[in-house]
Amino acid sequence: MTLIHIKINGESVTVAAHSSVAAALAGRPNRLSVGETAPRAAFCGMGVCFECRVTIDGQSQQRACQVLVREGMEILCDA
Ligand code: FES
Repeated sequence: MTLIHIKINGESVTVAAHSSVAAALAGRPNRLSVGETAPRAAFCGMGVCFECRVTIDGQSQQRACQVLVREGMEILCDA
């Protein structure tokens, strides 16, 4: 298995190459609900629910389940 290095909220993380960003997040909350009361994380895993939105390399509102990790990728979660 090939491993690559990414950053999640500034923390260096080693993940399997070709993983989705959602898999790299491994269930950690990626944002808060609209009312900012409940943590949210990937739900459908197929691009429909938009619960997995994160900022990837400066681009906000990216669906983590639809993007594959790349070496050096920087992911920011709002939660
Ligand atoms: S988990 Fe539903 S859109 Fe990504």
